[in-house]
Amino acid sequence: MIPDDQVDEVRARADIVDIVSEHVQLKKSGKEYKANCPFHDERTPSFYVVPDKGFYKCFGCGKSGDVFSFVMERMGLDFVEAVRHVAARSGIEIREVSREREEEDPHRALYELNTFAREFFRKNLTDPETGAVARKYLADRGVTEEVAERFGLGWAPDEWTALRDTAAKLGLDEDLMVEVGLLGRRERTGDAYDRFRGRIIFPIEGLSGKVVGFGGRILAQDRSDAPKYLNSPETPIYHKGSVLYGLSGARHTIRREECALVVEGYMDVVSLASHGFGNAVAPLGTAMTEEQARLLSRYTTKVVLLFDSDSAGLKATFRAGDVLLAEKLHPAAATLPPGEDPDSLVRSEGAEALQRHLDDAMDVLDRKLQILEEKGYFRSIERTRSAVDRVLPTLRAAADPALRDIYVAKVSDRTGVRRDTLEEEIRKEGRRTRAVGTPPPAQTAPRGRPPSTVLRMGPERELLAIMIRNPEYVERVAEWLGPDDFVDSAYRAIFQTLLDDPELRSPPPSMDPVAAARFTELLNDPAEIPHVGRVFEKAVTRIRAAALDARLEALHRRVREATDETEKRTLAQEKFTLSKELRDLDPEYWASTLRRIQNDPQREQHNP
Ligand code: CTP
Ligand code: MN
Repeated sequence: MIPDDQVDEVRARADIVDIVSEHVQLKKSGKEYKANCPFHDERTPSFYVVPDKGFYKCFGCGKSGDVFSFVMERMGLDFVEAVRHVAARSGIEIREVSREREEEDPHRALYELNTFAREFFRKNLTDPETGAVARKYLADRGVTEEVAERFGLGWAPDEWTALRDTAAKLGLDEDLMVEVGLLGRRERTGDAYDRFRGRIIFPIEGLSGKVVGFGGRILAQDRSDAPKYLNSPETPIYHKGSVLYGLSGARHTIRREECALVVEGYMDVVSLASHGFGNAVAPLGTAMTEEQARLLSRYTTKVVLLFDSDSAGLKATFRAGDVLLAEKLHPAAATLPPGEDPDSLVRSEGAEALQRHLDDAMDVLDRKLQILEEKGYFRSIERTRSAVDRVLPTLRAAADPALRDIYVAKVSDRTGVRRDTLEEEIRKEGRRTRAVGTPPPAQTAPRGRPPSTVLRMGPERELLAIMIRNPEYVERVAEWLGPDDFVDSAYRAIFQTLLDDPELRSPPPSMDPVAAARFTELLNDPAEIPHVGRVFEKAVTRIRAAALDARLEALHRRVREATDETEKRTLAQEKFTLSKELRDLDPEYWASTLRRIQNDPQREQHNP
């Protein structure tokens, strides 16, 4: 047997147009496709495939159905065979389970809880009283009721146990509600509470339309302690790197328009949909992952990135661009006016204004070259040489051979470097630092020699070592950390120097001797860093956690010294928020902080 959720998934992910095209010659006609009916004899086509709805219908003989019934009928298969056939054609792996085990699809209960919660939130939004403020908020932001309904938007009342109590009345399993991230548990008492409170709810759907998680936006930023958006944590059914918000609803439009818009957030997706752009999706609070890029590649090759136009947005654009290129997609970057996001732009200036920006979107390589040009990179030979290095990652990422040839030709034209020299550089670079999106080379463990002293020297040193070996990491690190986050003054100085010049390979004369000595030592350390990406993430997290911890300590002292009761309370509240942030950011670090606190009998706990 094939579990229901897999059948749903195959149906959702299969391209009915592709499957039917194997049997009849379809012609595009508006939103639909038509052909002479394969089930009866006819001269003029009355057989329609409607990809949006995933079905076919013949107006001549009346046969209709979904992708499975088509292959059952056409190929004489039974249902399970049909599902298997469609899955195989669509590159979907299905795991079959024996009949007895089918009942216990391990995740079914979690999906059911999410469905229940979506209903709960939705009812609260439509409730004349409970949902009034939230409905007004949405209306003020230009979200119509129709669109709110289409996205299944909801409202989580600003109460601690509204969802918990409703679930309890229905006899739903509290532990599972915690597991799926709808409830949290107090550390000390073990009591469960609603995680989403006072928030507009955006259900996050997988491709099959099942709810895998939720995002919640606080109504107003008056609760300074609460983050603007709260998302489901990673759960057995929610992996944020493998979902694109909005894709389940947008994919048909994406295919039809042969273009996907990638925006940053929930509101952008919803707002664009309200203004007639039904092809927008968002990676939620993460950089675009390979998996998300692969999802998009099922529906389109053209992707327009619509991120902020500030420097963080640009970095995100190029990083996403490289990931998309590695999946053979063709990404372009739209440039929005400073300070605007797609939602604000489309609301203040309308759909035509946004359309103009989309029409002006530039291929990511062109945009990169344009920016280098603006920064004066092509004015001297020396800088042109370093411009080549800066576009190499993009050339290397481009996995579509034709696109890559075009890129190489373009860069060759622009820089005067011969094409085969570029090709050689691409290969050379590719060996040193692997292209985005390609699997890491098999680890050949260097024998005899411990992998690295670098790795035992603390996160600040690790990061610097990574930045020196892989200059493209300089910008990535800079997105997360500033010089002040480095506690060690020598490391701080080296960091600052690398920010100014990522390619620098000797200490500048002005550098303090201690820092210079360490920089030289780092430059000369031949150790390889395995799993650079992982080491990078871990080190950044550790350093951010340490910075948070330092702020907590400072707050703690201020609480102790404060005399005014109101001030004490405000500070304590702030401490509480920070400790929550630390716990979420780096649970391991948090655990050690807790141990430290617990060993200090003098202090009260700041336990979230
Ligand atoms: N985000 C998040 N957690 C936060 C802030 C942001 O997960 N504390 C994610 C959300 O997915 C959000 C996206 O990053 O949609 C973009 O954030 P931002 O630009 O701040 O929000 P907007 O989408 O513009 O939301 P709004 O217009 O409602 O302010
Ligand atoms: Mn916004």
